Amino acid sequence: MTGRFISFEGIDGAGKSTHIQAVADWFRARGADVQLSREPGGTPLAEALRDLVLREAMGSLTEVLLMFAGRRDHVETVIKPALAAGKTLLCDRFTDASFAYQGGGRGLPLAVLDTLADWVQEGTEPELTLWFDLPAEQAAARRASAREADRIEQLDLDFFERVRAAYAARAAQAPGRIVRIDASGTVAEVGAAVLNVLQARYPAC
Ligand code: TYD
Repeated sequence: MTGRFISFEGIDGAGKSTHIQAVADWFRARGADVQLSREPGGTPLAEALRDLVLREAMGSLTEVLLMFAGRRDHVETVIKPALAAGKTLLCDRFTDASFAYQGGGRGLPLAVLDTLADWVQEGTEPELTLWFDLPAEQAAARRASAREADRIEQLDLDFFERVRAAYAARAAQAPGRIVRIDASGTVAEVGAAVLNVLQARYPAC
C-alpha cells in the first residue's frame, strides 16, 4: 500500500499554511487518512534543528546541511512509514524549499543540492506540490501585518525575489508535479484555485 505525498511551497507570506488545512479537510471528507507535517521539522530531532536554523547565525552551507539532516530524519521516521501505511501526508515545505532558499536565495550550487536530495530522499518525492506564488513585495506586506520575522524572514526583497525565481525554475523543470497557484487573490479566491487543482488531479476521490 502506498499513500499520497503532497507538499506545499512558496515564499514566506504567500499564505500556504492557511490552505493546507482546507486540503486536509477535502481529503478527510473523501475518507483519506490524513497526516500533516512540516519542514524544517516534523520529528523531535528535526524540530530541534529547526529552532537552531531559524535563530542562530550560520553560514549557508551549514544552513543547508541542517535542513537536509532534519529532512533525512523526517523521511526515514515519518514520511516513509506514513506512505507505507497508506496515509495522505501533507507537508508544509520539502526539498523544493532548499532549492529555492539555499539555492536561489543563498546562491549555493544546485549540483550540491541535487546530491544531498538524492542521498537524503532515496526516491521519496511528493507526487504533487502546490506552489503558492506571490511577488516578494506583496508577501512582505502580508508578513509585516501577521507576525514577527525569524532569521530568514528578515532577509530583503531581493533575496525573496531570487527565492521566487528559483521556485519558478523548479516548476518549469517538473511541470507534472509542481502546480503554480496564483496566491495574489483573497483567501477565498486562492482556496477555490486549490480545490480546482485537487478536483482535476483526484477526480475519483
Ligand atoms: P515556514 O514553514 O515558512 O515557517 P513559518 O510559516 O512557521 O514561519 O518555514 C520556515 C523557514 O524555513 C522559511 O523561511 C523557509 C525556510 N526553509 C529553508 O530555507 N530551506 C528549507 O529547506 C526549508 C524546508 C525551509
